[in-house]
Amino acid sequence: MNPELVARLTREMHYEFGRTAPPDGFPAFPDIPVGRFTSDEFWDLEQKHLWSSCWVLAGRSEDLAEPGDFITFDDLVHPIIIIRGRDRGLRAYYNTCQHRGAPVVRETSGNSKLLRCQYHSWSYDIDDGHLVSVPDERDFVGLDRADRCLPAIRCEEWDNWIFVNRDPSAMSLREWIGPIADEMSEFQGATLRTVARQSEIVPCNWKVTAEAFLEVYHFRHIHSRNGESLLDNRGATMGLLPNGCSRMVTPFSKSSYSALGMTNWDDYKHVVIPGFTDIESVNDMVRCTSSAYGIFPNLITPVAAYGFPFITFWPIDKRTTRIDWTHYAPIDFDPKDGLPPHWQARLDNFALIMQEDFWNMAPMQRSLESPAMRGMPINYQERRIWNFHEQVDRMIGIDNIPENLRVPQLLDAYIER
Ligand code: FES
Ligand SMILES: [Fe+2]
Repeated sequence: MNPELVARLTREMHYEFGRTAPPDGFPAFPDIPVGRFTSDEFWDLEQKHLWSSCWVLAGRSEDLAEPGDFITFDDLVHPIIIIRGRDRGLRAYYNTCQHRGAPVVRETSGNSKLLRCQYHSWSYDIDDGHLVSVPDERDFVGLDRADRCLPAIRCEEWDNWIFVNRDPSAMSLREWIGPIADEMSEFQGATLRTVARQSEIVPCNWKVTAEAFLEVYHFRHIHSRNGESLLDNRGATMGLLPNGCSRMVTPFSKSSYSALGMTNWDDYKHVVIPGFTDIESVNDMVRCTSSAYGIFPNLITPVAAYGFPFITFWPIDKRTTRIDWTHYAPIDFDPKDGLPPHWQARLDNFALIMQEDFWNMAPMQRSLESPAMRGMPINYQERRIWNFHEQVDRMIGIDNIPENLRVPQLLDAYIER
């Protein structure tokens, strides 16, 4: 975030504190239809149109350091392999042998200079997926190896985070995440390392999980400590970004900023947390607020100067979601040897906050399936949720969605471009 952006966001937080209603002309949102969370029809539309054309996080570049290093990735409906080629570039292929469909690799990670299917040893080149050899090839009548390449899918990197996209004509990853890549450059993502990954299966629709991280309206109600909230949601500013992405910056509450020796929420200081390796280039506003980004469709990151998690939401079925949260930080220890106590304490505290968010999710899904739930009214402060739903519809194709399941496109004039 450059100084101009920090100044603008601070002005926006002042504005949010001072207003007595949403800005003049801000649209009234109709209720979000509950069928978007419960119907087979909407689930099928998402599977067909949304997950087939979005960029999703699949791994970290440093985990594939050498030519031939590979990982498998199973969270985008169809099995995928990501492998570093001989030229050191990354490739992604469907993990689907073109003979009879066995997985080409069965291990979840490894190193292989040739992708040799473990069933009958059809072998594919790691750089372009071409079919290199077929045992007993004389027994196939009319087999053209050129027609039997391992199908590739898009694979691009941003600061060592690897993303994949099944849509060959998708815009680039950089374009997809838009200004977030530049704004997050101060976190020096390529130098960070994975500290730990945790997961939880939650019995609700994936959008219920994502929405819990797109607003702070709930924060003081379910995350307070000893009756005190750490944040003041009334000053939160929401940046609605292209492609359903977003930014949220929330001022500290009086108890939080006073504890840091600040005289007001915007009296930002270069706060460094003792014991943790600091990312020196992170600006002081981030150090003295809660700042978070959302990358559509399923990634939220509450950023911080001493490392931060990527939280991702993976649909399993229409009422089951796996939530992963993986912490990245500039660490000077090897997590394989165990975590130092200050890191373990931090992860335990974060897991507790996540549990507070999870408590509502299963009951909410049951309510969404109940005739008692007629629709979801969304307020101005929750507008990132509306922005997210608009993008869901754009990905599916608005005309593909029955009218009673759509959300109208209302926020175009409020997108930062
Ligand atoms: S299924 Fe892969 S070689 Fe037969
Ligand atoms: Fe929360």
